[in-house]
Amino acid sequence: SPSDPDLVERARAAKEKLGERVFVLGHHYQRDEVIQFADVTGDSFKLAREAAARPDAEYIVFCGVHFMAESADILTSADQKVVLPDLAAGCSMADMATAEQVAECWDVLTDAGIAERVVPVSYMNSSADIKAFTGKHGGTICTSSNAKKALDWAFEQGEQVLFLPDQHLGRNTAVRDLGMSLDDCVLYNPHKPNGGLTVEQLRAAKMILWRGHCSVHGRFSIDSVRDVRERIPGVNVLVHPECKHEVVTAADYVGSTEYIIKVLDAAPAGSKWAIGTELNLVRRVAQAHPDKEVVFLDRTVCFCSTMNRIDLPHLVWALESLAEGNLVNQIQVDSETESFAKLALERMLALP
Ligand code: 13P
Ligand code: SF4
Repeated sequence: SPSDPDLVERARAAKEKLGERVFVLGHHYQRDEVIQFADVTGDSFKLAREAAARPDAEYIVFCGVHFMAESADILTSADQKVVLPDLAAGCSMADMATAEQVAECWDVLTDAGIAERVVPVSYMNSSADIKAFTGKHGGTICTSSNAKKALDWAFEQGEQVLFLPDQHLGRNTAVRDLGMSLDDCVLYNPHKPNGGLTVEQLRAAKMILWRGHCSVHGRFSIDSVRDVRERIPGVNVLVHPECKHEVVTAADYVGSTEYIIKVLDAAPAGSKWAIGTELNLVRRVAQAHPDKEVVFLDRTVCFCSTMNRIDLPHLVWALESLAEGNLVNQIQVDSETESFAKLALERMLALP
């Protein structure tokens, strides 16, 4: 069981045995039973920076999902090893853009005569292959906490942006933060010839949005917002930018997981909050603020199932294996992919 005192003790002992040789990173969507062993917790931007800042740890145990561990491998030195306690912890959004599909898309843009003026901006939630594509074509990575800066930068480099794979973060940032209209955005569907778009549409668009989304955040609706406002008068609605545009538009505050935590830390006692993001985080925030009313934006939405794959038994297994000298579940990006992906990630880290 998750609270099994034996497992807790084994994790503690293995971590103690490894000492400074191991550094455990925990994303805010991780289970409580795992997060208690994280040396640092954060949103995906903070965790990428933390990984890059740990030159002394031999092992980085990444409690999060596959694309985060890949990014950590890219940003750490060659002799450091990144371990993902369960290899099945993927991300369905990241899987919505494959290397073949993105290469085909670039051909479509080339045939439309616009590839030269398009700058790719890829959300962190993408495979190392997609990050390498991005780096190769002069683009940058972004996360939910720096998407505006990334888009500002991209529009200094070119006239159009190909944003992938999350259509919602792309659209929300373009409209909310850059003042574009919905008509400035077109949706590229990788399952249709030419993305389902005409050459004219491709040429006229400022933002070419990849048709990807997060299945967890995609379930919050405008009705979730209306219902909670009716149920709890005076409630503040705080959502992650992976939510649909209409949800983000109806909300009071929008930001990354780290931002959500900071907003609640600064909120006055007695204030009321409905939070639209993954459940582990919302439950932890609610527990940390007994003086505030914190509810989940929609009771039918639940955990991110892949984030939840990292549980205490997997963490114990990974730590004990490392402590016994067995390197398990290493995430290693091949060197050619790594060099181009690193270019894109470093552009992100250099954003003002
Ligand atoms: P953050 O960068 O806000 O932590 O988001 C990561 C993520 O996967 C959200 O679904
Ligand atoms: Fe991927 Fe959504 Fe889970 Fe984040 S919450 S890891 S975007 S599936």
